[in-house]
Amino acid sequence: MTEPLKVISPRFLPGFLPPVYRELAPKEQDALLLHLLRLGPLSRHMRFGYPAGDGTIERYCNNRHGRAPVLCGAFIGGELRGVAELRFISEKWPYSAEIALSVEDEWQDMGIGTELMSRALRAARLHHISVLEVNCLPENTRMRRIADKYGAAFSHQTGLIKGVFEPLGPGYALSAASTRQQ
Ligand SMILES: CC(C)(COP(=O)(O)OP(=O)(O)OC[C@H]1O[C@@H](n2cnc3c(N)ncnc32)[C@H](O)[C@@H]1OP(=O)(O)O)[C@@H](O)C(=O)NCCC(=O)NCCS
Repeated sequence: MTEPLKVISPRFLPGFLPPVYRELAPKEQDALLLHLLRLGPLSRHMRFGYPAGDGTIERYCNNRHGRAPVLCGAFIGGELRGVAELRFISEKWPYSAEIALSVEDEWQDMGIGTELMSRALRAARLHHISVLEVNCLPENTRMRRIADKYGAAFSHQTGLIKGVFEPLGPGYALSAASTRQQ
């Protein structure tokens, strides 16, 4: 079993098992529910834009109408600890999707969200998604920072910040510079 680690500005320290990043198979989608249920109250609020309870999260994960979401996961010690979820908005060409990131509380601020964003942009390109949008609360500084690093075009909606990526366009960013000490 891996131990959660919460320190300021680390990348991964000696003895810490680095994450394995990969797309989830359709049969693994139940792992998303367990991961989202492990998010603490503040993270749930940031992830859903309101303080989502267990029942709401279960209904959200059971909402299997339409095309299945693309899930990029970060596994630590075999457990799903971070997810980039791409839910299709338009299932007809040109495809568009909304992305939402989540990293469990003990593993935040270590670069996992940034890496998931990079993987999600690659996945969006492979799935021919031409417009990818992220919607987050204005106070969600981590999410805004990550979206900014990957070149999102921002606009303000009522109570939300919307960031738009064009994964099929020329010159979109696949890697992002960190301001942290390496
Ligand atoms: C948002 C979230 C996915 C980010 O993942 P993460 O692994 O914690 O993020 P990272 O460590 O990759 O990067 C965080 C970035 O925000 C920066 N950051 C952290 N706290 C910050 C603050 N208070 N103000 C500004 N920037 C901040 C970090 O320095 C880092 O940027 P850098 O690499 O340029 O230094 C994660 O925190 C999370 O799951 N939050 C709860 C759910 C959520 O908000 N989801 C988004 C809904 S769309």
